[in-house]
Amino acid sequence: MKELSLNILDITYNSIKAEASLIQITVTESMKKNLVEIRIQDNGCGMDEAFLSRVTDPFVTTRTTRKVGLGIPLLKQSAEDTGGRFEIRSKVGEGTVTYASFRLDHLDRAPIGDMSSTITSLIQANDRIRFIYRHETDHGSFVLDTDELHEQLGDIPLSAPEVLGWIGEYIVENLEEIQGGKV
Ligand SMILES: Nc1ncnc2c1ncn2[C@@H]1O[C@H](COP(=O)(O)OP(=O)(O)O)[C@@H](O)[C@H]1O
Ligand SMILES: [Mg+2]
Repeated sequence: MKELSLNILDITYNSIKAEASLIQITVTESMKKNLVEIRIQDNGCGMDEAFLSRVTDPFVTTRTTRKVGLGIPLLKQSAEDTGGRFEIRSKVGEGTVTYASFRLDHLDRAPIGDMSSTITSLIQANDRIRFIYRHETDHGSFVLDTDELHEQLGDIPLSAPEVLGWIGEYIVENLEEIQGGKV
Protein backbone atom coordinates (compact mmCIF):
# COMPACT_ATOMS: atom_id res chain seq x y z
CA MET A 1 0.00 0.00 0.00
CA LYS A 2 1.13 3.51 -0.69
CA GLU A 3 0.64 4.77 2.85
CA LEU A 4 1.01 3.05 6.20
CA SER A 5 -2.19 4.74 7.40
CA LEU A 6 -4.07 2.57 4.86
CA ASN A 7 -2.46 -0.57 6.29
CA ILE A 8 -3.51 0.63 9.73
CA LEU A 9 -7.09 1.12 8.53
CA ASP A 10 -7.08 -2.35 7.00
CA ILE A 11 -5.69 -4.11 10.07
CA THR A 12 -8.08 -2.19 12.33
CA TYR A 13 -11.02 -3.51 10.23
CA ASN A 14 -9.90 -7.00 11.27
CA SER A 15 -10.29 -5.94 14.92
CA ILE A 16 -13.72 -4.45 14.18
CA LYS A 17 -14.83 -7.68 12.44
CA ALA A 18 -13.52 -9.57 15.48
CA GLU A 19 -16.05 -7.55 17.52
CA ALA A 20 -13.49 -5.78 19.66
CA SER A 21 -14.81 -3.15 22.09
CA LEU A 22 -11.32 -1.72 22.66
CA ILE A 23 -8.79 -1.10 19.91
CA GLN A 24 -5.39 0.43 20.64
CA ILE A 25 -3.43 1.83 17.72
CA THR A 26 0.16 2.84 18.43
CA VAL A 27 2.53 4.42 15.92
CA THR A 28 6.17 5.09 16.78
CA GLU A 29 8.57 6.96 14.50
CA SER A 30 12.17 7.16 15.63
CA MET A 31 15.02 8.66 13.61
CA LYS A 32 17.34 7.65 16.45
CA LYS A 33 16.35 3.99 16.13
CA ASN A 34 15.80 4.33 12.35
CA LEU A 35 12.44 2.64 12.90
CA VAL A 36 8.73 3.09 12.26
CA GLU A 37 6.55 0.77 14.35
CA ILE A 38 2.84 0.04 14.13
CA ARG A 39 0.98 -1.89 16.78
CA ILE A 40 -2.73 -2.65 16.76
CA GLN A 41 -4.13 -4.41 19.79
CA ASP A 42 -7.74 -5.52 20.24
CA ASN A 43 -9.89 -7.43 22.71
CA GLY A 44 -11.86 -9.20 19.98
CA CYS A 45 -12.57 -12.89 19.40
CA GLY A 46 -8.95 -13.84 18.71
CA MET A 47 -7.66 -16.78 16.67
CA ASP A 48 -6.64 -20.30 17.64
CA GLU A 49 -3.04 -21.44 17.18
CA ALA A 50 -3.67 -23.48 14.05
CA PHE A 51 -5.36 -20.59 12.26
CA LEU A 52 -2.83 -18.05 13.52
CA SER A 53 0.09 -20.04 12.14
CA ARG A 54 -1.45 -19.82 8.66
CA VAL A 55 -2.73 -16.26 8.77
CA THR A 56 0.31 -14.68 7.08
CA ASP A 57 -0.41 -16.97 4.10
CA PRO A 58 -2.20 -14.90 1.41
CA PHE A 59 -4.82 -17.62 0.89
CA VAL A 60 -6.21 -17.64 4.42
CA THR A 61 -9.40 -15.78 5.30
CA THR A 62 -12.67 -16.43 7.15
CA ARG A 63 -14.47 -14.18 4.72
CA THR A 64 -16.60 -15.89 2.11
CA THR A 65 -17.15 -12.98 -0.32
CA ARG A 66 -13.56 -13.00 -1.55
CA LYS A 67 -11.45 -16.10 -1.14
CA VAL A 68 -8.13 -14.39 -0.57
CA GLY A 69 -7.28 -12.58 2.66
CA LEU A 70 -4.56 -10.07 1.98
CA GLY A 71 -4.37 -7.48 4.73
CA ILE A 72 -1.96 -9.38 6.95
CA PRO A 73 0.30 -10.89 4.24
CA LEU A 74 0.61 -7.47 2.58
CA LEU A 75 1.62 -5.75 5.81
CA LYS A 76 4.12 -8.52 6.61
CA GLN A 77 5.62 -8.31 3.14
CA SER A 78 5.95 -4.52 3.13
CA ALA A 79 7.54 -4.53 6.60
CA GLU A 80 10.04 -7.24 5.68
CA ASP A 81 10.84 -5.55 2.35
CA THR A 82 12.32 -2.65 4.34
CA GLY A 83 14.29 -4.89 6.69
CA GLY A 84 11.58 -4.62 9.33
CA ARG A 85 9.72 -7.25 11.29
CA PHE A 86 6.16 -8.56 11.50
CA GLU A 87 4.49 -10.34 14.38
CA ILE A 88 0.96 -11.36 15.23
CA ARG A 89 -0.08 -12.79 18.57
CA SER A 90 -3.57 -13.91 19.45
CA LYS A 91 -5.62 -15.82 22.01
CA VAL A 92 -9.17 -17.05 21.50
CA GLY A 93 -11.55 -15.00 23.64
CA GLU A 94 -8.83 -12.52 24.63
CA GLY A 95 -7.74 -10.68 21.53
CA THR A 96 -5.00 -10.02 19.05
CA VAL A 97 -1.87 -7.90 18.72
CA THR A 98 -0.59 -7.15 15.23
CA TYR A 99 2.86 -5.56 15.02
CA ALA A 100 4.94 -4.37 12.10
CA SER A 101 8.20 -2.44 12.00
CA PHE A 102 9.87 -0.71 9.06
CA ARG A 103 13.35 0.70 8.58
CA LEU A 104 12.59 4.43 8.58
CA ASP A 105 15.21 5.44 5.99
CA HIS A 106 14.55 2.53 3.61
CA LEU A 107 13.63 3.66 0.07
CA ASP A 108 10.66 1.27 -0.04
CA ARG A 109 9.22 2.42 3.28
CA ALA A 110 5.81 3.97 2.60
CA PRO A 111 5.08 7.33 4.22
CA ILE A 112 2.83 7.33 7.30
CA GLY A 113 0.04 9.00 5.34
CA ASP A 114 -3.02 10.73 6.71
CA MET A 115 -3.50 9.51 10.29
CA SER A 116 -6.04 12.23 10.98
CA SER A 117 -8.44 10.93 8.30
CA THR A 118 -7.77 7.32 9.25
CA ILE A 119 -8.61 7.82 12.93
CA THR A 120 -11.59 10.13 12.34
CA SER A 121 -13.16 7.75 9.80
CA LEU A 122 -12.74 4.84 12.23
CA ILE A 123 -14.39 6.84 15.03
CA GLN A 124 -17.17 8.07 12.75
CA ALA A 125 -18.18 4.58 11.68
CA ASN A 126 -17.70 2.85 15.05
CA ASP A 127 -19.11 5.03 17.79
CA ARG A 128 -19.37 2.21 20.33
CA ILE A 129 -15.76 1.08 20.10
CA ARG A 130 -13.20 2.62 22.42
CA PHE A 131 -10.19 3.70 20.38
CA ILE A 132 -6.91 4.64 22.00
CA TYR A 133 -4.52 6.13 19.46
CA ARG A 134 -0.97 6.87 20.57
CA HIS A 135 1.68 8.44 18.40
CA GLU A 136 5.29 8.85 19.48
CA THR A 137 8.42 10.36 17.91
CA ASP A 138 11.85 11.34 19.23
CA HIS A 139 10.34 14.76 19.99
CA GLY A 140 7.31 13.74 22.01
CA SER A 141 4.03 11.87 22.00
CA PHE A 142 0.30 12.30 22.32
CA VAL A 143 -2.74 10.13 23.02
CA LEU A 144 -6.33 10.28 21.84
CA ASP A 145 -8.70 8.17 23.94
CA THR A 146 -12.35 8.15 22.83
CA ASP A 147 -13.49 7.31 26.39
CA GLU A 148 -11.95 10.57 27.61
CA LEU A 149 -13.73 12.43 24.82
CA HIS A 150 -17.05 10.82 25.77
CA GLU A 151 -16.50 11.91 29.37
CA GLN A 152 -15.95 15.51 28.30
CA LEU A 153 -18.76 15.63 25.74
CA GLY A 154 -21.52 13.88 27.68
CA ASP A 155 -24.35 12.96 25.31
CA ILE A 156 -22.84 14.52 22.19
CA PRO A 157 -21.81 11.68 19.86
CA LEU A 158 -18.23 11.63 18.58
CA SER A 159 -19.66 11.19 15.08
CA ALA A 160 -21.14 14.72 15.19
CA PRO A 161 -19.44 16.64 12.35
CA GLU A 162 -18.10 19.41 14.58
CA VAL A 163 -16.66 16.88 17.02
CA LEU A 164 -15.02 14.86 14.23
CA GLY A 165 -13.62 18.10 12.81
CA TRP A 166 -12.15 18.95 16.18
CA ILE A 167 -10.64 15.45 16.56
CA GLY A 168 -9.09 15.70 13.09
CA GLU A 169 -7.50 19.06 13.89
CA TYR A 170 -6.29 17.83 17.27
CA ILE A 171 -4.44 14.99 15.53
CA VAL A 172 -3.00 17.23 12.78
CA GLU A 173 -1.76 19.82 15.30
CA ASN A 174 -0.23 17.26 17.64
CA LEU A 175 1.47 15.44 14.77
CA GLU A 176 2.95 18.72 13.52
CA GLU A 177 4.31 19.35 16.97
CA ILE A 178 5.97 15.94 17.44
CA GLN A 179 7.04 15.39 13.82
CA GLY A 180 8.55 18.85 13.47
CA GLY A 181 6.91 19.27 10.06
CA LYS A 182 8.36 16.23 8.29
CA VAL A 183 7.88 12.42 7.64
N1 LIG B 1 -7.59 -8.99 14.99
C1 LIG B 1 -8.13 -10.15 14.54
N2 LIG B 1 -8.97 -10.84 15.35
C2 LIG B 1 -9.52 -12.01 14.92
N3 LIG B 1 -9.29 -12.58 13.72
C3 LIG B 1 -8.46 -11.93 12.87
C4 LIG B 1 -7.83 -10.69 13.25
N4 LIG B 1 -7.05 -10.29 12.22
C5 LIG B 1 -7.19 -11.22 11.26
N5 LIG B 1 -8.03 -12.19 11.64
C6 LIG B 1 -8.41 -13.39 10.84
O1 LIG B 1 -7.44 -13.55 9.81
C7 LIG B 1 -8.06 -13.54 8.54
C8 LIG B 1 -7.13 -12.90 7.51
O2 LIG B 1 -7.02 -11.50 7.75
P1 LIG B 1 -6.54 -10.55 6.57
O3 LIG B 1 -5.21 -10.99 6.08
O4 LIG B 1 -6.67 -9.14 7.03
O5 LIG B 1 -7.57 -10.85 5.39
P2 LIG B 1 -9.14 -10.55 5.33
O6 LIG B 1 -9.45 -9.54 6.39
O7 LIG B 1 -9.30 -9.99 3.95
O8 LIG B 1 -9.81 -11.86 5.51
C9 LIG B 1 -9.37 -12.80 8.74
O9 LIG B 1 -10.34 -13.20 7.79
C10 LIG B 1 -9.74 -13.21 10.16
O10 LIG B 1 -10.38 -14.48 10.15
MG1 LIG C 1 -8.33 -7.83 6.82
